[in-house]
Formats: sequence, structure tokens, C-alpha cells
Amino acid sequence: MSKFIIKGGNKLKGEVEIAGNKNAALPIIAATVLTEEECLLQNVPDIRDVRAMLQLLEYLGKKVTYLDKNTVKVEATVKRSDIDKKMAATIRASILYMGPLLAKLGKVYLPPPGGCVIGLRKVDSHIDVVTALGAKMDMDNLGYKAQLSEPKGTDIFLKESSVTATENALMLASSITETTRIDNAASEPHVSDLANVLVKMGAKITGIGTNRLSITGSKKLKGFTHRIMPDFIEAGTFAIAAAATGGELIIKNAEKCNLDMTVYQLENLGVDLEFLNDNTLHVKPAKLKVLTDKIKVGLWPNFPTDLMSPLIVLATQAQGSVLCHDWMFESRMFFVDKLIAMGANIIQCDPHRVVVNGKAFLRGQRLSSPDIRAGVALVIAALAAEGKSVIDNAELVDRGYEDIVGRLQSIGADIVREE
Ligand code: EPU
Repeated sequence: MSKFIIKGGNKLKGEVEIAGNKNAALPIIAATVLTEEECLLQNVPDIRDVRAMLQLLEYLGKKVTYLDKNTVKVEATVKRSDIDKKMAATIRASILYMGPLLAKLGKVYLPPPGGCVIGLRKVDSHIDVVTALGAKMDMDNLGYKAQLSEPKGTDIFLKESSVTATENALMLASSITETTRIDNAASEPHVSDLANVLVKMGAKITGIGTNRLSITGSKKLKGFTHRIMPDFIEAGTFAIAAAATGGELIIKNAEKCNLDMTVYQLENLGVDLEFLNDNTLHVKPAKLKVLTDKIKVGLWPNFPTDLMSPLIVLATQAQGSVLCHDWMFESRMFFVDKLIAMGANIIQCDPHRVVVNGKAFLRGQRLSSPDIRAGVALVIAALAAEGKSVIDNAELVDRGYEDIVGRLQSIGADIVREE
């Protein structure tokens, strides 16, 4: 296990470029299972989750070649339908192989997927979509077994707008020649990025970007070349890091069209932001001040749950009180005890709500990263704190952020990694 050693107090300053979107890369990697033709993925973030997903792809029989650190060529055809138990335990997104393996081989065996412990993270919506499309599902204490002999297009109403269940439905439906309609679909930009790939592969999809999708698939899906969209969560994370340290940052590849609610909520904490063009965000130094009574996560296009932990850190640095509410995940907020240990004034009301009272003077601490997003939030807290912090479990942050140490150093942070 490695750790970050951070000396806080430096204002972040300079320019940073946003990497490819993790949650777009993962389903797009899974989508390569749908074809035996060559697929070229560009702007792939060099992060642990992507490496784990590609390792699983190789295990399934695909040939994976890194052309450079962000470009991956995928060839050959899948040969096996079982997901390795140990690998599945390392990454929740292994569930994204369910739809494509059913489409390609007519069967799948999936041990319980692992991933960050941020909530119950049930798999019901995934089972609902694949059974609606004709799969027969069996469950035992070792995992989920599904068979698909007669795929059928159908109308699906998702009881939850689940991101990855929508993606599984999109991938399986893209291999079915009858039309499938998905209502109450998730409409996050990474879902659209996947849908655009499936269109390149030969599926006809309408409603991309909305919560009503219609898919008419094809028995023979083609290879594709695709540049993964930039990661708007990473853009928001760097903006928060700059603001929390009182710094000034130019963030490149920050797509304005995907940052509306993030910008609005950061402005609600007094952050001074300006888009220099459609892809470049300027974070200016500002006195942070709470201008709203509550900030709540929501389904797209509302404030993303994956930015809630960093936002809580930012709120500790703003003058005033704000209620932060994440109704999606049951354990997202539990990391605030670590911020309290650093000197933050936070009242945890229940598993989903905290009241943050700022501005707090944060002191460096020995900490441990509980999940990707809380991990990066602790890094930001340590950057804003006075003194030295040691953050164990750095690998969890590496799951979602490419070269976090190098990129933070390049904008003035005093951070090193120790093995
Ligand atoms: N939920 C509802 N109602 C809804 C939609 C969701 O209650 O209408 C709840 C679910 O019960 C669940 C949570 O919200 O507890 C998230 O649900 P979802 O199924 O959408 O999550 P997911 O597909 O498993 C993806 C991302 C997560 C991200 C969530 C929410 C990937 C690989 N993962 O997970 O990313 O938090 O959507 O946007 O795309 C991360 O990147 O750190 C991460 C955890």
C-alpha cells in the first residue's frame, strides 16, 4: 500500500489538462466484447480501474495493446463467459461485461462485483434489464449466472435511472435486431459517450442524452475508433482543489456543456469561475462564502454525487453554513469524521446529510482513503490544511485519477508518494 505525503498551505497555480472520463472508458472497454473487429480507444485515462477492466478483457480472450499510455487497441474475439472472481472483486464496473457477454456468447457468469464501499450498490436494475431482454437468470452464493437463447427487443422502464444498468441495457439491445425502448434511462454524459460508440458499431439509437432511448441493434457489430470524452468529475475536482487552496488555475478540456450545475454550486460557495472558451475554465482566487442553504446531489443534469466529497471539503473553507445532501449513496458521507479530526466543524445529521460550518482552520493529520472520491477529497483537505498529512491507501485515489501526484506537483502542490 502506498501513501501520499502532503505539506499543506501552497496555493495551486498554473494550468492542468483534464484526462479521459473514467466512467465513459469503462463501458466503452466492455463494448469491445460486442465485436471481433479491431477497436481503437483514444484518450483512455491511465488509471487503476481502466487497467483492471482491460485485464478482465484479456482474461475473457481479447487482445489488448497499449499504443501509448492513453491509446489502446483491442482485437480478437471473447472466448469465455465467466468473470474471474478475484478480478470482479477489484472493480464494480466488471458488471458492465454482463450485457456484452450475453450478447456475444449467450451466457455469463458474474461473481459479486466489488468496488468502493459507498452504499448498498444492489444489482437489481441490471438483472431487470437483461431478463427483460430475454435472459434467464440464476443466482447462488457464488454469483449470478445468466443464459440468453432468445434475445428479444422490448420496452423497459427502469425503476431507477441507474447509469451502469442503462449501459448494460444499451449494449445488449445493440445486438438485438428488434427495437428496444428504455424509459427512465440514465442520461449522464458518459452514457451518451457509450451510445455514440454503439452507433459507430452499427446500432441505431435515438434519444441519446435524454432519459428515453430507442435502440435497434444489429447481429454484426463493427469495430470503431473513439476518443473518450474528458472527465467532468475530474474538472470539478481540480476546480475545487484550486478554490480550496485560494489558488488560481486554468483547467483545459473542461467541457462547459457538462459543468453547468458544478459551476453553479461552486459559485454558491463563493468560487470565482469563468469559461475562457467552451473547453477552458479559469478558477480565480476568491474569498469563499456560502451563498445557499443547501447543496444536493441529483441525477443528470444535477450536481453529481461523485463531486459531493470534494465539495464538502470546499465548504469547510467557505464562511457560513451549508447542508450537503447525498440521497443516492448510504455511506458517502462517513468520511467526514476524518475532516472533523483535521479541525472541520461538521455535523452529521444522518447517513445522507451533513451540515458544514466554515470557515475552519484545517490541520494536517494521518488519514486513510476510504474510496476514490473521499480519497481525493482528503487530498484536497490536506492541501488546504496547515502542516503535514499522510494519506494511506493512495491506490484508491489512483483508481480514478491519472498521475494525481505529478499533476498536482505541476501546479504547485507539495505532495509526494511513498511506497
Ligand atoms: N439511485 C436511486 N435512484 C435512481 C438512480 C440511482 O436511488 O433513480 C441510487 C442507486 O440505488 C445507487 C446510486 O443511486 O445507490 C447510484 O446508482 P447507479 O446504479 O446509477 O450507480 P452505478 O451505475 O453503479 C455509476 C458510476 C458511479 C456513480 C454512479 C452515480 C460507473 C462505472 N460508476 O455507478 O461512479 O457514482 O453511477 O452517478 O459509471 C465513481 O466514479 O467513483 C463512482 C462510484
